[in-house]
Parts: sequence; structure tokens; C-alpha cells
Amino acid sequence: MDFQLTEEHLMIQKAARDFAVSELLPGVIERDEKQQYPAEQIKKLGELGFLGMMVDPKYGGAGLDTVSYVLAMEEISKIDASTSVCMSVNNSLVCWGLETFGTEEQKQQYLVPLAKGEITGAFLLSEPEAGSDATSQRTTAEDKGDYYLVNGTKNWITNGNTASVYLLIAQTHADKGSKGINALIVEKNSPGIVVGAKENKLGIRGSDTHSIMFQDVKVPKKNRIGEDGFGFKFAMKTLAGGRIGIASQALGIASGAYELAVKYAKQRKAFGKEISQHQAIQFKLADMATRIEASRLLCLKAAREKDQHLDYTLSGSMAKVFASETAMWVTTEAVQVHGGYGYVKEYHVERLMRDAKITQIYEGTSEVQRIVIGRAILG
Ligand code: CAA
Ligand code: FAD
Repeated sequence: MDFQLTEEHLMIQKAARDFAVSELLPGVIERDEKQQYPAEQIKKLGELGFLGMMVDPKYGGAGLDTVSYVLAMEEISKIDASTSVCMSVNNSLVCWGLETFGTEEQKQQYLVPLAKGEITGAFLLSEPEAGSDATSQRTTAEDKGDYYLVNGTKNWITNGNTASVYLLIAQTHADKGSKGINALIVEKNSPGIVVGAKENKLGIRGSDTHSIMFQDVKVPKKNRIGEDGFGFKFAMKTLAGGRIGIASQALGIASGAYELAVKYAKQRKAFGKEISQHQAIQFKLADMATRIEASRLLCLKAAREKDQHLDYTLSGSMAKVFASETAMWVTTEAVQVHGGYGYVKEYHVERLMRDAKITQIYEGTSEVQRIVIGRAILG
């Protein structure tokens, strides 16, 4: 497989890096402490085309490939994973789902403003009783003729309060199991929607995570995505690509922490020499670099397969489980390389360590990725 990056890829990578350093780095510690959503930064990202990167320009997107998306996600995540999760949800769950399976009318009405970054979207699958076991949907979308009547609760929803458009997964025919589930486009300001308090989280504290309650919410039938009963397949197909985004987020968190560890190890002196000259530290850095490179190659492989319209479910799950476990390990070691300084906020690595943990949980836990991989390799 050819991993040669084009001039355009390098340009996008640089644009994302410049944005992260100039717009995200200032204030990242404060936003984390205050759990502050990066509203201004997300607006600017949208104006630069980073919220609809892979969407066809005729729908307001940047028309780029998935490799460009991986590169941009890595650069943004090196500095601020609270911003990159919003970017990931909007690009790979919301825009991709709408562009791939939406009607022309749905694309004109919802995809265009989402791809231009004028508004953001959210993806509502998880429930208090249905996380990994995603077919056990309790939220109902009762068929009332020309509309669905929605009741139930979704939780852990990224962009839950700030999004204008929700892609909601709900059960219509309980007797049909996964084939009775529908995907609906719901406008956040619809009567009957109540947004819960923002979750107070370990990491990605700036990101906007909420429960969403639906009480007799009417959703027009024309807002259903795909055929009746397509909702679960819609969610699974969408998540297959989403997992490439989260894998790239994990890659960025790991490489951000690694770069800081290398820099620090060359500055800090102990026992008369730079700590980078102690073999124990060199070995840590060597292992970090190796695991990060392997994560990057897995992310790029999954992205290339998606761009070539091959099945990327397996490679996306492999990238996600490997990169997220790498991120947790690398960030923990980066704190260790920094000694006591790594334990305080000014040096950034403790935040990256806290941010890394979520990449092993959302968009399918590491255990779920192993289920997907296991089924794929065993047939
Ligand atoms: N593509 C197409 N169809 C798929 C599919 C895929 N990738 N994966 C499953 N399906 C289909 C199956 O073929 C099956 O259809 P048929 O009955 O017609 O064969 C149907 O979906 C049900 O599949 P399974 O029997 O495999 O379902 P399962 O109950 O065993 O669950 C699972 C499988 C992989 C564990 C799945 O439930 C899963 O992925 N769970 C994790 C949920 C998740 O990732 N949530 C993330 C929420 S979004 C989020 O987290 C965003 C964020 O943080 C930022
Ligand atoms: P559970 O499914 O209850 O799992 C608990 C533990 O059991 C895990 O370790 C899991 O791996 C393990 N487990 C479960 N089943 C199995 C099995 N069959 N075999 C082996 N181990 C198993 N969801 C959305 O829909 N949209 C969002 O935007 C979104 N954003 C999120 C943001 C944050 C910050 C968080 C924390 C979560 C978000 N989620 C979102 C939800 C996330 O996808 C779920 O938390 C995740 O899928 C796990 O579900 P759960 O929390 O119910 O854990």
C-alpha cells in the first residue's frame, strides 16, 4: 500500500498544525479547567472547511479524502482533543451519514450548513441501558402516519447542547430487533426536547456532553434516513468510518505527548546529563515512537481503504483499538518522563493522559473493537 503523501496532504496537515498552535494552544489549559466549550475555535474550524472535510463541494464541503482527514485530526488532537471530538462527530458521523444515505432534500436542508460549519450536528445512539449493546434501544419512534412520535432518553451525547441537528437512532418495531430500528433527523429546537446538564468529565472536558430527553417529539416522516428499519445498519456503517476519526484522535493525543516528552528529555538534567542520555528514558521514547508509527500506519491504511471504496470495517477497528491503547500508554509514559512536572497542568501531558482514556471507550470500547475484529477474522 502506498503511504506517500501528496502536496495537498502536506498542505492540509500544515494548515491544521498552524491552526492548532495559533488558535487552540492559547487557552487550552483554562478551557479544560473550566470545562469551557471551544465555541470560537469551532466556528473558525468550520470557516476553514475542517467540519465538512470529506463532503462533496456541491454540498458545501471541502471535497478532500479520508487521508487528509486523518492528518488534520492528528494535528488538532495533539493540542486539543476537546475540539477534535467535535470535529470528528461532525465530519465522520453526521456529515458522512447524511451524504451517504440522505435524500437530496435532506442534504440541501441539513448537510449543506453542517458541511460549511454554519451549524454542528450530533449522533444519538447511546442510552442509559444501551451502550455497547446498541441493539437494545429503549427510545421509541412510534409510526403515526406522516410523522414519528419519539420518547426516551439518550446519554453521553457529544455536541448535545451546541448542535442544531441530531441524527437519532430509535426503535420503531420492537418485535423486529435490530431490523426494527430507524435513524431520524431531528432539529434540536423541536418541542419536547430537554437537554440535561453538561457532564463533568475526567478528560475532553471542554467538549459538550449531555443527556437528551425526548417527550412526545414529533419528527416528520421525510426526516427518516433510508428505508424503514435501516437505522441500526445506518449506525453501524457510520460508526465504521467514525472509528477511523477516533483512531486518528488517539494518534494525535499520543504524538502530542511524545513530542513534549522528547523536548523535555533533552532539556532536563539529572546525574550530570540530560535525562534523554539515560538508557531507561531512551527506551521509553523508542517504544513510544514505534507504537505511534504503527498506529499512524493503521490509521492511514483504514483511510486509504475507505478512499478506495474497499471494506474498511476491520482496518478501522484495528486502528482504533491499537491507537487508543497506544495513546493511553504513551501519555502515561510521557507523564513519567516529565517526573513531578508531568503531574501539573502547565506541562500539558497530564491533560493528554486524561484525554487519552476516552478513546478506549467511545465509538465502541476496546472490547467492542475486539468483537468486531474477532468476527471479521473468524468469519
Ligand atoms: N455494517 C453493516 N451492517 C452491520 C455492521 C456494519 N459494520 N455491523 C453490524 N451490522 C448488522 C449485522 O449484519 C446485523 O444485521 P443482519 O441481522 O441483517 O445480519 C445487524 O447489524 C446486527 O448486528 P450484530 O448481530 O452484529 O449486533 P450485535 O448486537 O452483536 O452488536 C456490536 C454488534 C458490534 C457490538 C454493536 O452493537 C456495536 O458496535 N456496539 C458499540 C456501539 C458504539 O460503538 N457506540 C458508539 C456511539 S457513538 C459515539 O460514541 C460518538 C462519540 O463518542 C464521539
Ligand atoms: P457498557 O456497554 O455498559 O460497557 C461497560 C464495560 O463492559 C465496558 O468495558 C465494555 O467494553 C464491557 N462490555 C460490554 N459488553 C461486552 C461484551 N459483549 N464483551 C466484552 N466486554 C463487554 N454515544 C453516542 O451515541 N453519541 C455520542 O456522541 C457519544 N459521545 C460520548 C462522549 C463521552 C465523553 C462518553 C463518555 C461517551 C460517549 N458516548 C456517545 C457513549 C459511548 O459510545 C458509550 O459510553 C460506549 O459505547 C460504551 O457504552 P457504556 O458506557 O454503556 O458501557
